[in-house]
Amino acid sequence: MNPSVHERIRLRKGDITRVEADAIVNAANTSLLGGGGVDGAIHRAAGPDLLAECRTLGGCPTGSARITCGYKLPARHVIHAVGPVYRDGLHGEPDLLAGCYRTALRLAVENGCKSVAFPAISCGIYGYPIRDAARIARDEVVAFIREHPEIEQVIFVLFDDRAYDVYEEVLHEAGLTNGSDDHSS
Ligand code: APR
Repeated sequence: MNPSVHERIRLRKGDITRVEADAIVNAANTSLLGGGGVDGAIHRAAGPDLLAECRTLGGCPTGSARITCGYKLPARHVIHAVGPVYRDGLHGEPDLLAGCYRTALRLAVENGCKSVAFPAISCGIYGYPIRDAARIARDEVVAFIREHPEIEQVIFVLFDDRAYDVYEEVLHEAGLTNGSDDHSS
């Protein structure tokens, strides 16, 4: 029997560069040439070959994503998603953020990735209110994996306690019991 949706969604607190998923998602910018936050951490951990490949991609529009190799990361691939900068939620930010999750999952399926780890896209430097962003992440992931059993696991990797707690509440309010991993990365 196919594991149900909630069994395939996990929460984990820690550093996404340590996660051994088939693909980890980066919260990138439109240049795809690196930055701070999780973008900086992923490039540091992957090594310079990641930037070299990113240079060949010609950037990525907000609300979309591109896939590369993972190089020195434990993950086979990095999916670079470009989230919106939050203004007031009335300038298309929700749809653009949803597009990041949908496109990242589509790229994962197209590249045979069975497990995908997401950070809280746009919730740092880009200022997206984390509860609103977590609900968008939850709803897009649930809708996608319901139609794509080939995605066996999605892990939301949160970098701090507050973010973890918000995601746990947001999953719980949708009846998705907290499938937290035993170990943090
Ligand atoms: N592992 C997991 N999550 C992390 C890590 C990490 N190593 N480092 C930071 N985070 C978390 C942050 O705490 C935040 O909750 O990732 C979330 C996204 O924050 P940012 O990395 O600031 O990304 P974002 O808000 O999408 O802003 C993107 O920042 O780094 C630049 O080049 C990037 O211009 C782009 C912008």
